[in-house]
Amino acid sequence: MDLVDGLEIMGGAPLHGEIGIQGSKNAVLPILAACLLGEGVCVIENCPQIKDVADTLEILRRLGCRISCEERTVSIDASGSNEFEISGDEAARIRSSILFLGALLGRRRKAVLPLPGGCAIGARPIDQHIAALRQLGARFYMEEKIAADAGELKGGPVRLALPSVGATENAILASVLADGETVIAGAAQEPEIDELCAFLLRRGADISRTEEGGIRIRGGRKLGAVRYRMKADRIVAGTYLLAAAATRGEIFLQDIPCRQLDALVAVLRGMGAVVSCENGGIRLTADRPLRAVSYLETAPYPGFPTDLQSPLMAALCRARGESRICETIFESRFRTVPELRKMGARIRTDGSCAVVKGIPGLAPAKLCAPDLRGGAALVIAALQANGRSVIRNTGYIARGYEDICRDLRGLGAEIRWLG
Ligand code: UD1
Repeated sequence: MDLVDGLEIMGGAPLHGEIGIQGSKNAVLPILAACLLGEGVCVIENCPQIKDVADTLEILRRLGCRISCEERTVSIDASGSNEFEISGDEAARIRSSILFLGALLGRRRKAVLPLPGGCAIGARPIDQHIAALRQLGARFYMEEKIAADAGELKGGPVRLALPSVGATENAILASVLADGETVIAGAAQEPEIDELCAFLLRRGADISRTEEGGIRIRGGRKLGAVRYRMKADRIVAGTYLLAAAATRGEIFLQDIPCRQLDALVAVLRGMGAVVSCENGGIRLTADRPLRAVSYLETAPYPGFPTDLQSPLMAALCRARGESRICETIFESRFRTVPELRKMGARIRTDGSCAVVKGIPGLAPAKLCAPDLRGGAALVIAALQANGRSVIRNTGYIARGYEDICRDLRGLGAEIRWLG
């Protein structure tokens, strides 16, 4: 998708049909970092073919791993990896490169890496990552890069002041090869954390959730080879459910971990869509105009995901009534608003909240994706507008969606990549 820089959408028709969903981006990124730990070949099946994965595989290659890819099956052999420093542009480009901090400290007891990049959706500090790793014995020497060493990486209590997904993953990655027992209190509850734990468990780690929702790791176990299949991406599934609801369509998504979408399903039902989990997948029917959502705020799991806030906003543009959506996780997630306004949407922002007044129709427009999920939101808006819309800056979308065009065409949309 690298060279593709635009999407053309002829909107106005409801989505209908049945598709499968790619493997989870946010689960596979920490799992790829976890392949650096231990011995033996890790085979990841249903690995999504997205830009963030390509960049992460390049980081692993630079660290000395042997990698082979066949379609969506990726094999990683870290046995020859002796590096502890990450060089190259990839790490500076993606946010999740920060996960190599914990993985390198685990494997090499040393790590040097550039400050991470990622979508411009807010400040995205890394203080929680550093605090967690310090509690395990790492020392930091920060300048233009992040440099850390841990002569004595030792398991112990780790307390996170806020349930950061990445900081929880970093603490897990570092402690799994540290001596002794680690209990991470205040850990994030996102299903991607549990998928990382399941992967490490399959490799021989002793790791489990505590009753309080923390994570207990008895470190130092030998990690071996594994073959692991990624589950479907809940955010991609959520995007298409919102697109189907917004266009008053009917779709079935195959093989979905339905419970992971509980918060979205409750919102969709409140909007008037009929949603059911059946035959291992999820079905949505929306044959009448949607209702507004009087109040919603994003929250850590199991709350409403910040990653679906912009797609929801796009779906609410034509809903009857006034919706108020508050963003509590990333402060710059409203960069989609001026783009939606180009289509006639009536949205005003009020600090960290946005008020969307539903209108009968959106007008097609020339748009620019502000970030990954904001780009997906613009696709949802364009699918609702009668006529031809063009979205530029779609490189962002390819960071998280394998091929949004292929998927939506599978659901009957008229959409194509522009060269
Ligand atoms: C992950 C997801 C991202 C999702 C986010 C929240 C991946 C690759 N990305 O991002 O798609 O939107 O979770 O569900 O899994 N924070 C700090 N200090 C830190 C770390 C985080 O203040 O050291 C703050 C952040 O600014 C943010 C909140 O904590 O306000 C949550 O961030 P975090 O859970 O760490 O998100 P990511 O792991 O970056």
